[in-house]
Amino acid sequence: MHIQLDTASPLSVATEALVTFAFEQDNPIDGPLAEIDRAVSGRLQQLASAGELTGKWLEMVLLHFPAGLPASRLLVVGAGKQEKFDNAQLRRLAGAAARYLKSRSLKSLAFLLREPRRDAHSAQLVAEGLLLAQLELDKYKSEKKNQKAIEQATILGAAEGAHAALERARIIAESVNWARDIANEPPNRLTPRLLAQHAENMARESGLDVDILDEKRAEQMNMGGLLGVARGSAEPPRMIVLTYNPPAPAPGAPVLGLVGKAVTFDTGGISLKPSKGMEKMKYDMCGGITMLGVMRAVARLKPPIKIIAVVPATENMPGGRAIKPGDILFTMSGKTIEVLNTDAEGRLILADGLAYARQLGATHLVDAATLTGAIVVALSTFQVGVFGSHDDFTRRFLDTARAAGEKMWHMPVDDDYAEVMKSPLADLQNISSGEGGGASTAAAFLREFVGDAPWIHLDIAGTAWLDDAKPWMAKGASGVAIRTLVDFAEKL
Ligand code: BES
Ligand code: MN
Ligand code: ZN
Repeated sequence: MHIQLDTASPLSVATEALVTFAFEQDNPIDGPLAEIDRAVSGRLQQLASAGELTGKWLEMVLLHFPAGLPASRLLVVGAGKQEKFDNAQLRRLAGAAARYLKSRSLKSLAFLLREPRRDAHSAQLVAEGLLLAQLELDKYKSEKKNQKAIEQATILGAAEGAHAALERARIIAESVNWARDIANEPPNRLTPRLLAQHAENMARESGLDVDILDEKRAEQMNMGGLLGVARGSAEPPRMIVLTYNPPAPAPGAPVLGLVGKAVTFDTGGISLKPSKGMEKMKYDMCGGITMLGVMRAVARLKPPIKIIAVVPATENMPGGRAIKPGDILFTMSGKTIEVLNTDAEGRLILADGLAYARQLGATHLVDAATLTGAIVVALSTFQVGVFGSHDDFTRRFLDTARAAGEKMWHMPVDDDYAEVMKSPLADLQNISSGEGGGASTAAAFLREFVGDAPWIHLDIAGTAWLDDAKPWMAKGASGVAIRTLVDFAEKL
């Protein structure tokens, strides 16, 4: 999709569909809509009076060949209540409009921004929404839905200076779609080695340094967590490391370590999961792919700090050599872990990932993982769970998420949660000895491996994929947290 900005009047733009939005209020026809309404001889007002145009969230009102406009269609999308309209909604609205028009085989649109949403950031959100709406899950279908695609989009009504915002939107959305595409691969086509290959190709294209540790090097580094989980699989694990070096690094600047869980398939291991719905565990590498997506974007946006992504990748299988409940593993950090449940494997590989990121010089850490079913119980599929060791660092992260339009919620992690992860036989055990709070006890376990570095843990188990398509996005991998992480890295 090619996206451009235009300062032309919406009344003079020739496009297949002129798109704008109406708020849910007494009279949804106001401001820019009133001007368009006059051009179409009051038809919008008529529809509003008839109760067919109310501004309700994602209501679609489509006029065909509106006399008075050069556009061949006019689409008015409901934006809901203006007081509640936020960044996430603007992006979703743009995506929903694009998917609605795309399904009608249209190839071009012009999206009109309106007060109070005419700033550069709004243009960015709209462009992101349009681009994220493009991706379809039809790679393995003989008949491609995606042959329907919006090829040309114009954003109208944006304030001065939106060009940079548009370029940013393109880089970020293309990186999110790159990540979603890979995350949507079936597990037989995305083993740890194949994931490493994708990471390496992307790194070379993007000018990032890349180092892929195979099982022998992982052995030399005493990565007993990663190797332990990999034991049950015929596929060898990989520790994927990508590094972004800024053009002019400031001395003493922070080094950001991004650590992501990439279990390319999680059967649970010997603590086998039930077969119903097990195919969903092909998404258990979304944390790792999130971090690769962030690296793809930062390689192009070139923030002034060094960033290291560390992605432990493995399958979790119940093979004959698999780890068993009761086994004790030696991790790279020197800490020992008693494995009580082989299905709590993400924390075992992240233990080595976090320790390795520290060893490589990361001063600040963020990890992302589809870590627990418990976060889905707590927050459903609506919000990312955010855990942190340093309150102001965490707060800054949450503020960044809100501005980026990604819903995230602050969750607790403190010594009480750490206490129940102590083992009588080893330094730690991999499941809690207490009741409940499974997302927080998992976070407390990870905290044992970050030392004194400010650290944030994102549990994306509920948000990393969509079981069903949304009006603004195809089903499958969502690419959640990439946008926030890119903004956060730039601000650090
Ligand atoms: N990958 C799962 C977590 C998960 C569950 C992700 C549901 C997405 C949806 C993780 O490895 C896991 O199995 N966690 C266990 C931990 C338990 C054994 C302490 C869980 O949450 O049940
Ligand atoms: Mn598991
Ligand atoms: Zn898992």
